[in-house]
Amino acid sequence: MKNLTLNSGHQIPMLGLGTWKSAPGEVGRAITEAIKIGYRHFDCAWIYGNEKEIGDAFAAAFAEGLVSREEIFVTTKLWCDSHRRQHVRSAAEASLRNLQLDYLDLYLVHWPVHLKHGIGIAQSGDDFVPLAEIPIAETWQGMQDLVSAGLVKSIGVSNFSQSKLEELNSGADIVPAMNQVEGHPYLQQPDLLAYCNSTGTAVTAYAPLGSGDRPARLKSEAEPILLEDPVVVEIADGLGVSAAQVLISWAIHRGTIVIPKSVNPQRLKQNYQAGHLSLCDSDMEKLASLDRQARFITGEHWCRHPGSPYTLTDVWG
Ligand code: A2P
Repeated sequence: MKNLTLNSGHQIPMLGLGTWKSAPGEVGRAITEAIKIGYRHFDCAWIYGNEKEIGDAFAAAFAEGLVSREEIFVTTKLWCDSHRRQHVRSAAEASLRNLQLDYLDLYLVHWPVHLKHGIGIAQSGDDFVPLAEIPIAETWQGMQDLVSAGLVKSIGVSNFSQSKLEELNSGADIVPAMNQVEGHPYLQQPDLLAYCNSTGTAVTAYAPLGSGDRPARLKSEAEPILLEDPVVVEIADGLGVSAAQVLISWAIHRGTIVIPKSVNPQRLKQNYQAGHLSLCDSDMEKLASLDRQARFITGEHWCRHPGSPYTLTDVWG
């Protein structure tokens, strides 16, 4: 599998396994299967609620000699309730305990949205802290502290716009190694990608298959089905591969890291094999023409609670 070198000097495999929505009871098996197939990069987050089971699967894989700690790349994410500098370290330590690891390869600020300390999923407008109340520089100090403490090798962000990255970069000692954002042919974000390239921040594409299994509260009516897009399907048929494989390969060809989620052994294998697929220039051009700036993860869930201080401009602006 191809690796990319981060600005921290550490290498990340360009294809990783997403674990959002991988339910407790099935995520552990998926991790073990993925390791056997060859996956060496795992994308996690505290809020996914499945870190403990993933940690058990890692521990078993190390004990059985399937893989060593140094051979895998593990990302997890700081939840929105821990953006105060003094809360960052305890949040990272909680994830390390869950994952049964003594360091993380990559730790990301999950969203540019603040929640009151102790809040998981917001239930009311009262659970939020306005964006301006905690400057990103404060959270970033906490993130940099983790690198100094040896708990984390590389630090980055997720769901950050160019203007938020500019604000962060203006005061940072460590430029973010990663910005993880939604990425697929319907949402290509070329300007954000170019900005990240210019500052040495790598980009990970999440929801590369259209994230069809996300909860109803995060879905809109009449969404297009990316895996059934006629152009994607036509390219897949021409190559004798699946639509998912085309989408995964497209992301890698653009120089982004990609983290398709699956808990199904056949699909895990199929997705991993997409890392070796070649797309020609004309296929890449056809896929580029599909851009419609359409998010599946719209961010509306941050704004719709009565009394939430967040607007979509706060989230994405
Ligand atoms: P499953 O976990 O049952 O394989 P995303 O990575 O964009 O969030 O998309 C994840 C969704 O895509 C899940 O519903 C997952 O189902 C499904 N999926 C993963 N791999 C494939 C594949 N190769 N073909 C079709 N659907 C897939």
